[in-house]
Amino acid sequence: MQTLKLELGARSYPIYIGGGLLSRSDLLASHIGGKQVMVVSNVTVAPLYLDQTLAALKEFECYTLVLPDGEQYKTLDTLNLIFDALLQKRCDRHVTLIALGGGVIGDLTGFAAATYQRGVPYIQIPTTLLAQVDSSVGGKTGVNHPLGKNMIGAFYQPRCVIADTDTLRTLPERELGAGLAEIIKYGLIRDRAFFDWLEANLDKLLARDAPTLAYAIERSCRNKAEVVAEDERESGVRALLNFGHTFGHAIETGLGYGAWLHGEAVAAGMSLAADLSHRLGWITSADLQRIVRLIARARLPVAAPAVLSVERFMELMTVDKKVQAGKLRLVLLKSIGEAVLTGDFAADKLIETLRQSGSNIPAHA
Ligand code: NAD
Ligand code: GLY
Repeated sequence: MQTLKLELGARSYPIYIGGGLLSRSDLLASHIGGKQVMVVSNVTVAPLYLDQTLAALKEFECYTLVLPDGEQYKTLDTLNLIFDALLQKRCDRHVTLIALGGGVIGDLTGFAAATYQRGVPYIQIPTTLLAQVDSSVGGKTGVNHPLGKNMIGAFYQPRCVIADTDTLRTLPERELGAGLAEIIKYGLIRDRAFFDWLEANLDKLLARDAPTLAYAIERSCRNKAEVVAEDERESGVRALLNFGHTFGHAIETGLGYGAWLHGEAVAAGMSLAADLSHRLGWITSADLQRIVRLIARARLPVAAPAVLSVERFMELMTVDKKVQAGKLRLVLLKSIGEAVLTGDFAADKLIETLRQSGSNIPAHA
């Protein structure tokens, strides 16, 4: 097991990464203060991993809530189901919530924990690659609104993150790819050596080679933990973690939540952001090709879906948390391994990127 620490003073917490961790009752128990525990999962993950989790929680008064599965359920209505269950079971303010699932369950459960009785503790047990490398770490919680992705939420840190890499064995192929998108993101925005490593090791990651996956998860979490420790509430450097996301969120909202996976939309978004960075003369054509090739090798989309017109895309992109005083700001690349958040780009170059999307880059993977 590898243990990383996210340093946030009194709210610091460990991130445990390794095989067999779901059965480690000692890990769970050391982060639970009261007697009551509620495990929140969904109809896909619960049959796979709920029993194992409950077995490790024998000493607690344990309740479970199994939610429907899908991004389309990351809503206020579903959040309310968690509150209903907590109130029906008369859970007090010492209850610990446990999020057992992917990023949807993690974001929903974290937001419920942030707001139930003005805040109760919670633990993240991420079971997708995407959740293990990104969403379970850093305390962003929330739900979608029909008009915009992740528009309602709170910063609220978990007591610990337990990433059991064995759970990735049951992950569908497409979900593995979605996680790879966020892994590639770290290489692009701040870790050039990791990008080089990913080029050399992508095939092993696709083949789910366990030590290679564990290394990629650990290095991703280390990158994320460093950024969050520096800027927990996204007043600066944390915004760079949203590389590709302004484009990606527009795709997710525009197509309807769940049509493309979050990671797929981010992958296309990163290709578009790299394309714009190239049009602005910031990255070379060789670097653009390297970026797009790696994303395509991960079997991810490298272009926007044709059904979204440029006008609609632009309209959707302006519903973004990085918009300031009505001005669109984007995370763009200065080179592989260096990103900036900027509103300082020619709008016509952005239109060109959207218009040309797909024509100068390899076909949709
Ligand atoms: P997800 O939670 O929808 O999980 C993907 C699918 O895999 C679901 O069908 C799920 O039931 C299934 N699944 C989960 N674990 C499994 C396993 N071990 N075996 C088999 N199937 C399994 O999607 P995701 O990609 O994990 O997360 C995407 C969400 O995370 C989006 O809502 C996104 O906005 C959010 N997100 C949040 C942050 C953050 O910082 N909070 C960061 C990135 C993404
Ligand atoms: N996934 C972006 C962040 O956590 O800030």
